Amino acid sequence: MNIILLGPPGAGKGTQAQILQETLGVCKLSTGDMLREAVAKGSEIGKKAEKIMKEGKLVPDEVMVSMIADRIARPDCSKGFILDGFPRTLAQAVFLDETLPKLNKKIDKVIEIHVDDKALVERISNRFTCSKCGAGYNKKTRPTKAEGVCDNCGSAEFSCRADDKAETVAARLKAYNDLTAPLLPYYREKGILYSVDGMAEIGKVTGEIRKIVAGKT
Ligand code: AP5
Repeated sequence: MNIILLGPPGAGKGTQAQILQETLGVCKLSTGDMLREAVAKGSEIGKKAEKIMKEGKLVPDEVMVSMIADRIARPDCSKGFILDGFPRTLAQAVFLDETLPKLNKKIDKVIEIHVDDKALVERISNRFTCSKCGAGYNKKTRPTKAEGVCDNCGSAEFSCRADDKAETVAARLKAYNDLTAPLLPYYREKGILYSVDGMAEIGKVTGEIRKIVAGKT
């Protein structure tokens, strides 16, 4: 099963992709994580992407398609994959439509996680990550069990994303509305678009997505 998770910044794509990767045994391809890794390594792609990401704009299509093409073709994606953060433009969606058949693959379902704009800003401003293992938390909705200690690895070092500042979040929301939201009618016309209420609690959203994946809706 190959799935795309669509939704604005903070909708819960990364959270759900992580849970589904573990429960469905498919691989998670998060282009935001890949870019942040490239920035941390100081690679050529990272150097190109860093300023663009800090401004809340989209990294050029040609950079993104070469990054994802390489990743999808690897053996760990043979059982299926979840795309988190890709495609983000019509050109990226067309690229997938043209490339996947050459690999004997296709997108089975596109799941939109729908969340109110006000909740998105609130979620993003409370988000933090373990600096050691990358586990994601939220001050309000998903705190660490013991204060200041990562549940996963026990580290006491945490960080916030460089693009989670209020002014950058506004630019990211604009990029979503202008360039990514047009993918909703694109996939609706293909008959593979599903929508879940992303305002529900995390476990309930996972349950709704799992029903869609299992063909029970
Ligand atoms: P990316 O990393 O993909 O960021 P994003 O799409 O802006 O999404 P986020 O990671 O902010 O949010 P999310 O939906 O994953 O929510 P999360 O699960 O973390 O991209 C970053 C940048 O990279 C882009 O701006 C762009 O520059 C570039 N880029 C990436 N891909 C690109 C592409 N294809 N083309 C061009 N440029 C690209 O949840 C958010 C918070 O809410 C967390 O704290 C979480 O715990 C909490 N939460 C989650 N679900 C719930 C819930 N149901 N209830 C309450 N709280 C919840």
